[in-house]
Amino acid sequence: MATIIDMQGVSWKRQKENILYNVNWQVYQGEHWAVLGLNGSGKTTLLNMINGYIWPTQGKVSVLDQSFGKTDLRELRKSIGWVSSSLQEKVKVTDNTEDVVISGKYASIGLYENPNNEDYQKAFKIMDKLGSGHLIGRAYQTCSQGEKQKILIARGLMGSPELLILDEPCNGLDFHSREELMSSVKQLAMQKYGPTIIYVTHHTEEILPVFSHTLLIHQGTIFDKGETANILTSENLSRFFEMTVEIKWHKERAWMTLQN
Ligand SMILES: Nc1ncnc2c1ncn2[C@@H]1O[C@H](COP(=O)(O)OP(=O)(O)O)[C@@H](O)[C@H]1O
Ligand SMILES: [Mg+2]
Repeated sequence: MATIIDMQGVSWKRQKENILYNVNWQVYQGEHWAVLGLNGSGKTTLLNMINGYIWPTQGKVSVLDQSFGKTDLRELRKSIGWVSSSLQEKVKVTDNTEDVVISGKYASIGLYENPNNEDYQKAFKIMDKLGSGHLIGRAYQTCSQGEKQKILIARGLMGSPELLILDEPCNGLDFHSREELMSSVKQLAMQKYGPTIIYVTHHTEEILPVFSHTLLIHQGTIFDKGETANILTSENLSRFFEMTVEIKWHKERAWMTLQN
């Protein structure tokens, strides 16, 4: 079984403080993972490490069977689609939706190379698949928040990645846009030869059944990890959030409420 992510004893220190500490995490082909943690727990830092933007202070990281230190990270990044709302700030006012999508081919925002007809066809196809076909030709900045997120996911898919990382993709979305975006993520995850997906969130109900596994991260360390159904229990999450919560499963999603 191919290993998509292998982190062994990984720590990352800043000013003597451990932002990540002793992370051991393996993701195998055929799995999709949700990463759940509160604000500031280290989720984005963990993703930055997968992308090779930061290097472990201690421990070993290998992504898509390539060990850090022995591989060209720029090449590796082409196999990773990365979607984060921080990308939004980098889009130029004048960019059309399809330009933003195509820029994913070069793993950069803004078009630095002239796209060819094939690039456009590919972008249109991906946008169609994500239900964004009607946005072709529109200025990115005129799209709604939910539409923008879908464009960024399409952008992440432009390089046909083996690994797709979604960092809190539903933040700031209204009920309708959130459900619609999640439904697109579900379709992607169900594709036979689609990318392995890492979905970062702080809402349990966003963890769809396609996410076979869940990692709980707390203050930079792994609190628990394993099959989603075993991780998202009232008892486990009460310990994790340090408050008594109750999980109710409805339509294969875990809804959390506070218990008194
Ligand atoms: N470059 C950095 N230097 C120092 N501290 C950082 C740096 N990046 C992140 N942190 C700190 O690491 C912690 C985890 O941040 P982050 O990974 O962004 O959390 P999350 O994505 O879970 O909200 C925060 O306390 C943040 O302030
Ligand atoms: Mg974050």
